[in-house]
Amino acid sequence: MNATMRASVTTGFQPVIGHAISIRALRADDFDIEYRFITGLSLETRNSRLLGGARPVTPEYVARLTRIDFPRELALAAVVMLGGEETLIGVARYALEADGAGCEFALVIADAWQGRGIGRRLTESLTAAAQAHGIARMSGYVLSTNAAMLGLARKLGFRLQRVPGDATLTQVTLELTRPN
Ligand SMILES: CC(C)(COP(=O)(O)OP(=O)(O)OC[C@H]1O[C@@H](n2cnc3c(N)ncnc32)[C@H](O)[C@@H]1OP(=O)(O)O)[C@@H](O)C(=O)NCCC(=O)NCCS
Repeated sequence: MNATMRASVTTGFQPVIGHAISIRALRADDFDIEYRFITGLSLETRNSRLLGGARPVTPEYVARLTRIDFPRELALAAVVMLGGEETLIGVARYALEADGAGCEFALVIADAWQGRGIGRRLTESLTAAAQAHGIARMSGYVLSTNAAMLGLARKLGFRLQRVPGDATLTQVTLELTRPN
């Protein structure tokens, strides 16, 4: 990823007093913080993110999550300094679909940081980045029982649709307008 891209997705905000949160691109050298982040997620959160709660977290798996095939993929990290160490508290990512026009996205926030507006900020940053890259549509699959993600998607204007033949999943889609 080039410096311009990094700069364009780096933002800061402060949803909780005393914690300045930054949003920046995830990089291959984020292996350690990504490993701590993934292994710290509750089973419920991993299942909601469709990460397969029972799947062991191997170094290869974490390496794959931090090896971003830009510009086909982008992952944005929400980070905060805790005890002098940068700590990953949320990741939103997209990957281009085969047609190159749309992308599929997914999002996960660390359990202790959920419900503080971080998911909304990450999703807004991700859709802005996708839009800036000329992507026409962003969609994702959400468990139909996942009230938090469906509520967030609704709030940000995503269209919610049943997945034919699989009532356990809901597809959420946002049409992205071309940047001027
Ligand atoms: C779903 C998830 C990403 C939401 O992120 P978050 O940071 O907790 O959500 P936010 O605080 O930004 O909430 C934004 C909006 O989402 C909706 N929302 C959040 N939590 C909700 C809940 N428990 N029930 C209903 N709506 C909820 C609300 O509309 C909220 O806006 P409001 O606070 O102004 O009412 C997060 O809870 C998470 O990581 N869950 C586990 C993984 C997952 O489900 N990933 C989605 C699959 S792709």
